Amino acid sequence: MQQMWTDIDAYIDSHLIPEDPILTQTLKHTDERGFPDHLAVAANQGMLLQMLIQMNKCKRVLELGTFAAYSTMWLARALPDDGYILTIEGRDTHAALGQENIDNAKLPQKIDLKCGRAADILRALPENTEPFDFIFVDADKQSYPEYLELSLDLSHSGTVIVLDNVIRAGDILNPENHKPSIEGIRDMFIAMQNNPRILSCTALQTVGCKGHDGFALAIVK
Ligand code: DHB
Ligand code: MG
Repeated sequence: MQQMWTDIDAYIDSHLIPEDPILTQTLKHTDERGFPDHLAVAANQGMLLQMLIQMNKCKRVLELGTFAAYSTMWLARALPDDGYILTIEGRDTHAALGQENIDNAKLPQKIDLKCGRAADILRALPENTEPFDFIFVDADKQSYPEYLELSLDLSHSGTVIVLDNVIRAGDILNPENHKPSIEGIRDMFIAMQNNPRILSCTALQTVGCKGHDGFALAIVK
């Protein structure tokens, strides 16, 4: 099935996803620097993130897990020129690559990349930090329950929170799989369930060039 999913993503992209030199350059530079591309969102998924931002006329975006900043570029492309993104990356090598890609892109939006453990950085934000309008969680999966709570703390009513990679080819259903990343995702589902701070939420499975995975989405009450 994987080949067909990849071919269909290519079909979707060729019809619906406009060529963007900055996004292409980001992927090319990431490949040239020897980093794998399976960690990045697919182009049609990047477009979905962009559309959610456009729908809500968001200006302030928080991203946990920058990697090469490819998803960051998709988020930035949806923002007005005075938009702001805080993006946090835990690994030094990924943060350095992400910063290079952000510098090369020369986008008008302010993109602030911080390197460190996302939970520590978020807890150290100044007390008067304005809430974010859109939050994309794509960092270490074992910390997803904590990232969901911190995201809710940094939200206002109507903030949309999207969490990537919540299906993992069905591993979340395998009772023998006790990897911290998988347990983290399961605990996130429990934390979302009947959460008094969430207006509505769901999760969608995706198949495509990145395999079988999915997004969880929540709107803050
Ligand atoms: C992995 C992480 C991601 O955020 C992703 O989108 C795909 C894979 C990983 O750690 O394997
Ligand atoms: Mg991801």
